[in-house]
Amino acid sequence: MAEIKTQRLGGYRRLIDIARDLASTLDLDVLLHRIIQAAADITDAEAASILLYDNTTRQLHFQVATNMDQPTLRGLTVPLEGSIAGWIVVHKKPLRISDVHSDPRYFGNVEKSTKFVTRSLMGVPLIAKDKVTGVLEVINKRQGEFTPNDEDLLSVLGAQAAVAIENTRLFQQSDLIADFVHELRTPLASLSTATYLLLRPEISRQQHDQIVRNIHAETLRLNTLASSFLDLARLESGRVQFQPVDFDVSDLISECCEVMQSRADEERVKIVLDVSPALPLLRADRDKIKQVVLNLLSNAIKYNRPNGSVIIGAQSAEGYMTLTVQDTGLGIPEDALPHLFEKFYRVHETEGKASGTGLGLSICKKIVQGHGGEIEVRSKVGVGTTFIVKLPNPDKTSSPSYSP
Ligand SMILES: Nc1ncnc2c1ncn2[C@@H]1O[C@H](COP(=O)(O)OP(=O)(O)O)[C@@H](O)[C@H]1O
Ligand SMILES: [Mg+2]
Repeated sequence: MAEIKTQRLGGYRRLIDIARDLASTLDLDVLLHRIIQAAADITDAEAASILLYDNTTRQLHFQVATNMDQPTLRGLTVPLEGSIAGWIVVHKKPLRISDVHSDPRYFGNVEKSTKFVTRSLMGVPLIAKDKVTGVLEVINKRQGEFTPNDEDLLSVLGAQAAVAIENTRLFQQSDLIADFVHELRTPLASLSTATYLLLRPEISRQQHDQIVRNIHAETLRLNTLASSFLDLARLESGRVQFQPVDFDVSDLISECCEVMQSRADEERVKIVLDVSPALPLLRADRDKIKQVVLNLLSNAIKYNRPNGSVIIGAQSAEGYMTLTVQDTGLGIPEDALPHLFEKFYRVHETEGKASGTGLGLSICKKIVQGHGGEIEVRSKVGVGTTFIVKLPNPDKTSSPSYSP
């Protein structure tokens, strides 16, 4: 009895520490990892995870887990109907199950993809402002079964987590929106100047046409800014689900080159392919990877010089695949490199390459990181720049759980 009491006290003390911890970070990823680690610790569980609910698809998707890596997590979804997590969302109630395999609500697909065998499970709803945003789950009590006391502890943690998640989301959104509105000011100001000039009676036909062309270019740029901004906002909210499929990377690269060919011709830039033969299939979200390649390729053309070239390559090594986009362009000064993947950051805006938004590389980085990969840049001013994307690609033939 005394032992149970001290255990319980230890649990509550831990909760207080965590509350302090959670209040001190606004980085959603860091925060969620702290929560699941704490959840597993205080309930003495083998693993813990957070699933967030997406009410447009009526599915839950794994956001973080102590026992899965990012690429495994990304594609895993659980339906609202016919799953334990779904039951928790619908009923807004905690649930404790000592043997999931004998529970009709258990959704076995996750176990198949992760090869992590679940015995016991306990979950609590994450509720913020009366809305269920997700589920916090712990799996496999190390000794015995999850107790009502464990449930209490997890519920308190769940309540803290829900508020913290909501706060970081609001914070991230307001931050991003403030940046966006700031970025709108410049093009809006130039549109306003342009229309003012158009109304002046003394301008020539030639000046008139030039102004109209400027207006056209600015509106196009605003349009790109708006869609890039939406893409990035979605990626940052953590609600984007990647749809991994196996696909041929050299096909994808050819498609991207086709899309960019006329732009390259205009800029008199040559695109060269360097794709190694017999490349294995890549397992990733094809559309998203295409977006990355298109972004890098468009930069490599845009920030090139006339008669320059772009070499786009793909190589495979054990466990990963590398995509490279190399150009013979302007290069990037060393002091700019650390900022390159920041939102709205641009180096060459003063050099007449006005058609950018500074969001392309931030989007690329989010997508690559979402796949558990890395993006790197090497550059030399006046010589050129190389972007290297490294994506995990487990060898499929040696994995018994893989079925095409
Ligand atoms: N291949 C490249 N060579 C030189 N500079 C580059 C290259 N790619 C990106 N940059 C620099 O990094 C900045 C950010 O790139 P990005 O996020 O794609 O924004 P955008 O292309 O809309 O300006 C660009 O404005 C440019 O200054
Ligand atoms: Mg770009």
